[in-house]
Amino acid sequence: MPYLYGAALTVPLLALAGLFVSGREVARLATDPAWLQQAMASIRPPDPAGVNMIYDLDTATIVGLAGILAAVLAARWLRLQMTRWRGLVGITYPDGRRVEVTPGTTILEASRGAGIPHASVCGGRGRCSTCRVRVGAGAAKLPPPSEAEATVLRRISGAPTIRLACQTRPTSSIAVTPLLPATATPRHTLARVAHRQGEEREVAILFADLRGFTTLAEHKLPYDVVFILNRYFAAMGTAVEKAGGRIDKFIGYGVMALFGVDGNIEAGCQAALAAAHGMAERLVELNRTLANDLPAPLRIGIGIHAGPVIVGELGYKAATSLTAVGDAVNTASRLEAMSKRLDVQLVLSEPVAARSGADLSAFPRQEIEVRGRTGHLNVVAIARVLDLPI
Ligand code: FES
Repeated sequence: MPYLYGAALTVPLLALAGLFVSGREVARLATDPAWLQQAMASIRPPDPAGVNMIYDLDTATIVGLAGILAAVLAARWLRLQMTRWRGLVGITYPDGRRVEVTPGTTILEASRGAGIPHASVCGGRGRCSTCRVRVGAGAAKLPPPSEAEATVLRRISGAPTIRLACQTRPTSSIAVTPLLPATATPRHTLARVAHRQGEEREVAILFADLRGFTTLAEHKLPYDVVFILNRYFAAMGTAVEKAGGRIDKFIGYGVMALFGVDGNIEAGCQAALAAAHGMAERLVELNRTLANDLPAPLRIGIGIHAGPVIVGELGYKAATSLTAVGDAVNTASRLEAMSKRLDVQLVLSEPVAARSGADLSAFPRQEIEVRGRTGHLNVVAIARVLDLPI
């Protein structure tokens, strides 16, 4: 922009300077009658009729321009009258501020016009979704979203009261709550609304933990421990992502992952089993690679459970991340601990077995009590995850 701005100033200035220099040159040459006569002959000036026509055109141009100006002023006056006739619409913000705009103004334009900070990473082109608002009172009277707006809304939320401020033109008064801070960045682009607000949904939760790593790490230098752990986390993270899951967090030597957050729970359960299988495969590979660095192979225990949880973005500033909280998460963690007690690689709950559709009839089932949970839970214990029919 600075370069274009510079060019926009420089080009007309140079043109004017050129005109000035040329004018002086012509004035100097015109003092010579012979040159003047030759110049007049070569430029063939108009005859008296032509001169009259030029003066007539001059008048017609001025009248035409005056007419255009009058038409613009009349159109503005007409629009003002129509606005008065149709009335203004009010947009109320969460802090109680009310902005009155003409119908046809977008919510984002209203915010900007009133100096209310409002996120708009894509500049109001309906692409980023950072301008989204939750519409309270008056939502039912809003015009329906255009196809383009509806497409973006489908990607970020299923709630009909969420709209893009840059695309929504209220025709009657409404109350809005911007859902992202005005300082939103491209990182927030198309982030799901429900996640930021917290939403209950059914997901599959996987916990995995290294067995006996503290003993293994006892005689290692801290540098070696960090190296081994990072290789382990990379291997487990890859297995989870390859199966379509999402790493929730690494806790100590453990991993928590979520499956089916954006899809259905059946697909989530299948993905969780696939991830467990992938983790076991990668662990075999890792043990082969690190054979000279480890006194004994790494071992893991995995627990998988599925159920309703609250999925939302929790944390503070840069430490904010999408996570799940709820009883199902605690149960999955307890199943992982139970895998140690049962001396198996994987313990998964009956709901996961049923919803994954996998044939697990070859593996023993048992009814267990889970600490902190009333009633019993049927689980499937699998000694070797690689035996899973994936
Ligand atoms: S400003 Fe980007 S979608 Fe509205």
